[in-house]
Order: sequence, then structure tokens, then C-alpha cells
Amino acid sequence: MSASVAPSDSSRDPIATNPVGMGEVLDHVRSRDELIRPSVVEFKNVTKTFNIGKPNEFTAVRDVNFVIEDIPDKGEFICTLGPSGCGKSTILRMIAGLGPQHPPTSGEVLVFGQPLSGPGPDRGMVFQDYTSFDHRTVLDNVTFGLECQGMPRRQRYELGRQWIERVGLNVNKDQYKYPHELSGGMRQRVAIARTLILKPRIILMDEPFGALDPMTRMNMQDLLLDLWHDVQATVFFITHSIEEAVFLGDRIYVLSNSPGTILKEMQIQQSYLPSKEMQKEARFQETVYYIRDVVSQLEESRRAGT
Ligand SMILES: Nc1ncnc2c1ncn2[C@@H]1O[C@H](COP(=O)(O)OP(=O)(O)OP(=O)(O)O)[C@@H](O)[C@H]1O
Ligand SMILES: [Mg+2]
Repeated sequence: MSASVAPSDSSRDPIATNPVGMGEVLDHVRSRDELIRPSVVEFKNVTKTFNIGKPNEFTAVRDVNFVIEDIPDKGEFICTLGPSGCGKSTILRMIAGLGPQHPPTSGEVLVFGQPLSGPGPDRGMVFQDYTSFDHRTVLDNVTFGLECQGMPRRQRYELGRQWIERVGLNVNKDQYKYPHELSGGMRQRVAIARTLILKPRIILMDEPFGALDPMTRMNMQDLLLDLWHDVQATVFFITHSIEEAVFLGDRIYVLSNSPGTILKEMQIQQSYLPSKEMQKEARFQETVYYIRDVVSQLEESRRAGT
């Protein structure tokens, strides 16, 4: 594996890297002027303090700097790992433009080079909790956003049925079911369809598979990669599972303890093996063990209060 990062269409890249299994650890987190392409998301010295001036004032993230490139006709799959409470969801919700995380206390969040004013149709979200509407059928959940946009029923149902199939559900069996009639995996399929049907350029996912059993989780990872190759969006994906991050991510950010900041940036050489097969590969395991050591050092330093 090469010891320098070189995007296939560029010879310019001064960042030193250290190969670890199927990944490479960058010697520093990339800044805007080190990228060739425009950015999708950029954080510039972002700090978020909640409850300013109150006894429970708390700084969740401090001086967060990173930049995600807009890779044409592909998008990049970004995975974010870090100890619980370090500010991962805070960062994701700031990209979404959702309060109270948005706006930052100081610094700037840019999306497609523009300062962010709030949520927008260019960004879609999938959460860990099953966020479907209980009183709506699968079809009406999947087409909810299209309904809000005013798309006529016939047209949106046609699209909705296509997406129900694309996420691996069965139109005939499942379209008129209500969320309480679905398994956790099926509900997350509905959530993914509901988000992707709107064709967001940025897909924000906060531990979407965290509540699923291991087998379902691997199937969902394979499905997500298949869909992502079609939709060509940038994905910002939070997970607690290092295996999941290494399997899914083109790039991984590891956050420090609270107040969180980006500690390490890695890029991962993706392969097209299914999740179950990939996990058996030695180079995959080497990358996982490396990140596990980084994260456990973080946990230890937190326990030691350093
Ligand atoms: N609205 C809020 N008001 C006050 N504090 C908040 C608020 N939202 C988050 N925090 C605090 O900020 C810190 C970071 O929270 P965040 O939810 O971003 O962590 P996380 O990395 O996503 O954690 P987890 O892995 O457990 O989901 C936590 O200590 C949390 O209690
Ligand atoms: Mg969180």
C-alpha cells in the first residue's frame, strides 16, 4: 500500500500517512487548502457551549476542524467514532442545521461552501430510534416528504413503491403495514427509504443500526452500501462499532473525549466484499485493532481524568 494519499485524479498531496491494514492514518486532519475539490461540509474552529451563563453551562465540542470533499459522481462515506458523550450527535445535528446544536457558539459550519442558516432539502437524516409515524402505513411513511413537497398522490405512491422494493421490503406484503407490525430492521429500511426518496446530497445517519442484532446489522450495511453507490451522496455516519466504520467508511474521524474535537483522520481502501466476508480479512482486522487501541487509550485517559 502506498505511503502517501493520492486521489486518483490528482498528483498533489503533501499529507504523510501511515498504512494500517486496509487503512491509512493521516498525520493531521486535512484543512480546506489541502483539498483540490470544493467542499461539501466544512467545520472551521467550531465550538458549541450549551446553557451559556447558567450553572449547567457545558462545552460539548471545542475547536472542531474538518473538511469533507465533494467527490463527483460518487460522494464520500464518512464514519465518525468516539467515546460516548464526546459530541458526535452535536456535530451531526449542526450539519443538519437543527437547534439547539445549531448555530455554533463560535466558528463556522459551511455546507457547499455556504454558511448554514438551518435545515434544508439537501440534507436528510436517519436516526437510531425508529422515527416512523405510528399512524401511517409503510407507504405513507416512505412518501411523507414527497407529500410535504406537494407531489400528487399517484406519482408519490409509484415512487414510494419503487423505494419499498429498493430497500428490500415487499410491496405486496408490507406497503399497508403500520410501524408496530414491523421488525427493527424493517423499520430502519422504511427510515432509509423515506430519506433517500428525497435525493438529499448529504445523508446524515446517527447510529442507524445501533439497535439491530448482528446479522440484521450486517445485512443493512450491505444494503446501505448498495444504495449509496446508486444515490452518490455524501454520507456522514455515526457509529459505536469500529467494525461498522471500517466496513462502511471511505474516511473515518476519531473524536477525542468531551469536549470533542477531531483527533484522527483515516482513509480506508474499500473493497466490495459483503460485510460478513470482509470481517474475516486480516487487513480489515488490523485496521479495527489499531482504532480499538486509539479509542481504548481515550477511554483510559478519561477514566484517569487526563
Ligand atoms: N441540548 C443540550 N443541552 C445541554 N447539553 C447537551 C445538549 N445536547 C448534548 N449535550 C451534552 O453534550 C455532550 C455531547 O452530546 P452528544 O449527544 O453530541 O454526544 P455523543 O457523542 O453523540 O454521545 P453518544 O455516543 O452517547 O450518543 C453530552 O455531554 C451531552 O450531555
Ligand atoms: Mg449521539
